[in-house]
Amino acid sequence: MSTLIIRSLRKNFGAVEVLKGIDLEARNGEFIALVGPSGCGKSTLLAMIAGLESVTSGEIRIDGRLVNSVAPKDRDIAMVFQSYALYPTMTVRENITFGMESRRVPKPQQDEAVKRVAAFLQIEPLLGRKPGQLSGGQRQRVAMGRALVRDPKLFLFDEPLSNLDAKLRVDMRTEIKKLHHRVGKTTVYVTHDQVEAMTLASRIAVMHQGEVQQFDDPATIYNRPANMFVAGFMGSPAMNFLAAELSQEGGRRTV
Ligand SMILES: Nc1ncnc2c1ncn2[C@@H]1O[C@H](COP(=O)(O)OP(=O)(O)O)[C@@H](O)[C@H]1O
Ligand SMILES: [Mg+2]
Repeated sequence: MSTLIIRSLRKNFGAVEVLKGIDLEARNGEFIALVGPSGCGKSTLLAMIAGLESVTSGEIRIDGRLVNSVAPKDRDIAMVFQSYALYPTMTVRENITFGMESRRVPKPQQDEAVKRVAAFLQIEPLLGRKPGQLSGGQRQRVAMGRALVRDPKLFLFDEPLSNLDAKLRVDMRTEIKKLHHRVGKTTVYVTHDQVEAMTLASRIAVMHQGEVQQFDDPATIYNRPANMFVAGFMGSPAMNFLAAELSQEGGRRTV
């Protein structure tokens, strides 16, 4: 069971206000997406949830517990980044067990975990290879394996597919969706790709300049955008805007 609640969250880097009061929540097992143009503060928000960036003000709660000043390792979170950050000199197996190794998890337990995750992600034949001998999609799967092996409360993804070519991106999208169905973990998924957000998430937070413009289910975001930014950002092809003037004459409004 894991819920995420974010209240009035702010982040300053020096004099620059990067997040201007974010309110968000993910229900237990929910998949939410943060979407918005580059520089709007998505990665900063995710890093704050993970504990990799400090909180300027506001609250982050996981399962009701205030985690603002809890160390990253004690938050029980797994994160998958855009750059897979696999250790090039280690085999796939070693990459997956590295975290457990440093936490001194007993060997039989490590083997058990690797077996479970490798079967799940269908990477058993790759366990002896080094990252350099893998395709982009396989590397991404290993990166997910490393996150899954920990059985965390929350999954955080920061644009995990943006280094992949278009075809593979679509395949991996389907895999992430299946993965979520099977493990059912509460997930926060960052992307600048609105199609990815629409197809994966049950609710989407559309961000712009450090603020959430709208937080709603995909159909509502698409059909009833809260403002012109959301209307212009979501939808492919983009929505058309026509300049119009509203006038009123004898009780009748006309455009
Ligand atoms: N460590 C930092 N110091 C100063 N500014 C930063 C730092 N990290 C991010 N920023 C700034 O914060 C803003 C949001 O960045 P980021 O969260 O990476 O956006 P996104 O992931 O949506 O592209 C950007 O203007 C970026 O330049
Ligand atoms: Mg980013």
